[in-house]
Amino acid sequence: MKREQWGSRAGFILAAVGSAIGLGNIWRFPYMAYENGGGAFFIPYLFAMISAGIPFMIMEFTLGHKLRGAAPRAFAKLGGKLEWLGWFQVFIAAVIAVYYVAVIGWAISYLGFSFTQSWGADTNAFFFGEYLQLGDNSPTKLGFLQTHIAFPMILAWGITFAAIFTGVKSGIERASKIMMPLLFIMVLGLITRVLFLPGALDGLNYLFQPDFSKILDAKVWSAAYGQIFFTLSVGFSIMIAYSSYLPEKSDINNNAFMTVLINCGFSITAGVLVFAVLGYMAQEQAKPLTEVVSAGVGLAFVTIPAAINLLPAPYILGPLFFLALVVAGLSSHISIIEAVTSAIIDKLNWTRKKAASVVCGVGFIVSMAFATNGGLLLLDLVDYFINNVALLTSCLIELIVIGWLLKMADIREYANNLSEFSIGKWFEVCIRFLSPAMLALILITNLSNTLS
Ligand code: PFF
Ligand code: NA
Repeated sequence: MKREQWGSRAGFILAAVGSAIGLGNIWRFPYMAYENGGGAFFIPYLFAMISAGIPFMIMEFTLGHKLRGAAPRAFAKLGGKLEWLGWFQVFIAAVIAVYYVAVIGWAISYLGFSFTQSWGADTNAFFFGEYLQLGDNSPTKLGFLQTHIAFPMILAWGITFAAIFTGVKSGIERASKIMMPLLFIMVLGLITRVLFLPGALDGLNYLFQPDFSKILDAKVWSAAYGQIFFTLSVGFSIMIAYSSYLPEKSDINNNAFMTVLINCGFSITAGVLVFAVLGYMAQEQAKPLTEVVSAGVGLAFVTIPAAINLLPAPYILGPLFFLALVVAGLSSHISIIEAVTSAIIDKLNWTRKKAASVVCGVGFIVSMAFATNGGLLLLDLVDYFINNVALLTSCLIELIVIGWLLKMADIREYANNLSEFSIGKWFEVCIRFLSPAMLALILITNLSNTLS
């Protein structure tokens, strides 16, 4: 059976960008930048992007294009003993998929609430008490399936399943071509309105004000590298699977630069959006901005709803924000599930339809653990482990294995031969020395922080 292919270059880039741009860009990046030196954070961030993000992306695009498989098959072809690394990555991808979908489900619920701001005035009590049912008013329900959380998750699974089941070109590519432009338009629309609110520029000042004293802080550098690996969806077989569907003639270097630059550009744009809103909120509530900033679940489901309550035309801006969150999340979820599905198709020779049904079916059942009211606790745990340990370990092992077993000059030559512009020897230095050294450093710091 002939391997599926993307229909167009733009289709591939939009799918890769769809994977990269996710919840992380909207709720993780802005806070990271703010906390780690504001404007000064961009120096380590851009450095990490160029020295780790772009080379890693070129490497994964090359592996997928050359070896024509998701990670397990691609690594197996490099040497019989390496298949386990691929399955390790696929396993982590599967773990991410089942908790990522829970957050998308919450975002779908909140999209519904946002039309009338039915979360009320106390958005904190609403989210934890009424929505997640963590309040002490319902201790007997603890651990039981919450249907109001399960239903939106079923919807998210349905969309992901439809895209994967239909195939690379008519499913994933078509979905990306609708979702990504829609996402860009929504975010630009939101920014245009929000920037003119009183206090918005103060918010941006907070975000961008450079604190150069942080530049020498190792933690800031480790945050920058960590964020780059997280945001680019590398190290989990995702980009290898996507690039395994590239046509023979494909400009690897250019595709990799575009994917990375669009993703990082989007992160900065999302930072502007989030901090403009926070600045406005601080002004309206006459609080210092430091008291309203937040990240992650707290930002998306407590702070932003509270800010939406204060906005003009909240019934338009609110749905726009949550739809953007849903779209960003879904396109990433599709890519994580495709990494798993494609590995199974490679290995077992199943049809796409069968593999998609089994993967989504099993994933759906497991993900229901997050639709109980123990869900948040579980999610925090899994998320912590993924971000601080699994992600870095997986990227580090891949860099060492690929960087030291293969002749990097060959990979570079392969990519350069296909590409309009060539990359230099710096690629090898980054893959073999710089990135692994940085990753090892971060991992050790994180592990010692966890243990202490
Ligand atoms: N890159 C996406 C994001 O930033 O949200 C999706 C993603 C990939 C999330 C890999 C988590 C992850 F470990
Ligand atoms: Na996405």
